[in-house]
Formats: sequence, structure tokens, C-alpha cells
Amino acid sequence: MGNFLAGRVVAVTGAGRGIGRAVALAAAAEGAKVIVNDYGVSIGGGEPSSEVAAAVVKEIEAAGGSATAVADDVSTMAGGQRIVDTALARYGRLDGVVCVAGILRERMLFNMSEEEWDPVVATHLKGTFTVFRAAAAVMRRQKSGTLIGFTSGNHQGSVAQANYASAKGGIISLVRSAALGLHKYGVTANAVAPVARTRMSANVPMELKEIGEPEDVAAFVVYLLSERARADGVTGQVYTVAGPKIAVWAQPRELRSVYADEGGWTPERVAEAVPRSVGVDPMPMLAQLEEMARAAAAKERPNV
Ligand SMILES: NC(=O)c1ccc[n+]([C@@H]2O[C@H](COP(=O)([O-])OP(=O)(O)OC[C@H]3O[C@@H](n4cnc5c(N)ncnc54)[C@H](O)[C@@H]3O)[C@@H](O)[C@H]2O)c1
Repeated sequence: MGNFLAGRVVAVTGAGRGIGRAVALAAAAEGAKVIVNDYGVSIGGGEPSSEVAAAVVKEIEAAGGSATAVADDVSTMAGGQRIVDTALARYGRLDGVVCVAGILRERMLFNMSEEEWDPVVATHLKGTFTVFRAAAAVMRRQKSGTLIGFTSGNHQGSVAQANYASAKGGIISLVRSAALGLHKYGVTANAVAPVARTRMSANVPMELKEIGEPEDVAAFVVYLLSERARADGVTGQVYTVAGPKIAVWAQPRELRSVYADEGGWTPERVAEAVPRSVGVDPMPMLAQLEEMARAAAAKERPNV
């Protein structure tokens, strides 16, 4: 056991499987007391079971750690609140929350139904809000704490997962809002975009060039939860963790601008000025799609 998180209390959602489970085990191994939340559902969000969270609690206890299971659905306000209330009732404080829970319902946008959109956005985006909301109230009083959301490289856009990509983009804005809104209370907020072998990544049709294990992501999350990251002033950031690689994403900012002359904008003046002086910022994901189409036609491996 290490002591990166000695005496800390950390809640992890989606902690029954995959990356969440690795985060819960790693946090416990570093001395944290852990709330293990998992609704125990299939990859599409069905057939809930409380055994999935309970099994990880047993693993942590068997290794000499302390953990408590909460098998609630994070997409409900009551579920988010119960995770936080359980931490307070059982351990008396809450130092970090890590919102990892997620599901997938893949469909092209033109065929996507409300039943495919709503639960995905509810689990990822609202499921991060419900926990952040309840935890932020406690951390504001405590004047310390760390909020961690899970996003994806797919926040840049996705061919067949507009629901998932939209939720993941929303999580980044939620994290940045939390970082801004809670800064004066000493609370930090960051997002992690992982690439790791789990049942969820097994769903990706193409072979990923950069991928690692859930444990790689867990080591990074332990750092983010620790005093070391707080001392380093880490907040409002988005990090990718893919096996041996850790990368920080740029903050969104305006690239180029043009101002109207005295008479203001007309469609004609826009059409003249914008292509000349503002232009476009080429979309990397679109270039990847084109390379994949080229490689498929040439029966080659895509260079993405
Ligand atoms: N694996 C990757 O390469 C990858 C890539 C990008 C993003 N992510 C993100 O990382 C996170 C973890 O993914 P994973 O690959 O470990 O997936 P996973 O399917 O292995 O685990 C997700 C867990 O979340 C739980 N869950 C689902 N809905 C829930 C709910 N409403 N309430 C509580 N728990 C719920 C599931 O029961 C499951 O145990 C997800 O947010 C995912 O979108 C993963």
C-alpha cells in the first residue's frame, strides 16, 4: 500500500467494472476509504445488479482496505445524493469524487431514437452533474476537494455516437464550470479522456493505435486526487491517458477574427471577409475519416 491518499475519502461511480474498478482499487491501495458506486448494468444500461459494486468492495476489503458499496443509478438526483451521504455517514468527509459510470447506445444520427439519446446523456452528463452537485455542496463547506469527470476523445465528434459524444463534450464544460465556480473554495475539477481495454472499448470496431490498461488511467486519477496535484494547481484541465501516454488538451480559444467596417455586416460582406481572413480550422476527425475511407478502398491499414 502506498500513501498518496492516506486518510482521504473518495467516491467512484461506475466502480464495479473496467476503469472505475481500477480507480477504486488503486485509491484504496493508496490509503483512501472508497465509496464504490455501480448500478451493475449491461453496456446498454439494462439489467441492474447490486452484486457488481459489492464484489469490488470485497476485493478492497480482502486487500486490507476500507470500502462501502452504493448500487444506485447515478442518473437520478437521489442516486448522486446517496453516494455523497453514504461517504459522510460512513467516513465523516468526502475529499474526491470520480465520475466514471457510462453506457453506450450506438446509432447513426439519422436513425437515433429518443430511447437511444436520453439514457446515454442521462448516465454520462447528468450522472456527473448529480454527483458533482451533491459533492460540491460538501466540498464548499470543507473548503477542499477534487471533482473528476470522465470524457472521451470522442468529444471532438463521432460518426455513430452523437449521443455519447454530446454528453462527453458537456462533461468538459461541466468540469470547467465547476473549476471556475469552486475555485475560491479550494476545490479543483478536471476531466480524463481514457483509452483502455475494457468491455466498452471492445465495442470500437477499428483497432486503436494507442491503448492501455485501466490501471494506467487509475494511476493518473490517484495523482489528480492527491495533494500533489492540488499543490501543482491542476484545475479546469482535460487529460488523455492511453497506456504509456499522458497528454493535456488545449483550452478552447478563438483562433482568428475579423471586424466589420462602419456599415456592419451584410451577407455579402461576410462572404467576402470570412474566407479571406477568418477561414476554417480543419477538423482532425474529418481528416481521419478520409484516411480510413482511402485505406479501406486501397485494402491497406489506415494511418490514423
Ligand atoms: N474504455 C475506454 O477506452 C474509454 C474511452 C473513452 C471514454 N471512456 C469512458 O470511461 C468510463 C469508463 O468506461 P469503461 O470502459 O470502464 O466502461 P465499463 O462498461 O467497463 O464500465 C462502466 C461501468 O459503469 C456502470 N454504470 C453504467 N450506468 C450506470 C449508472 N447509471 N449508475 C452507476 N453506474 C453505472 C456499469 O455498470 C459499469 O460497471 C466511461 O465514462 C467511458 O465513457 C472509456
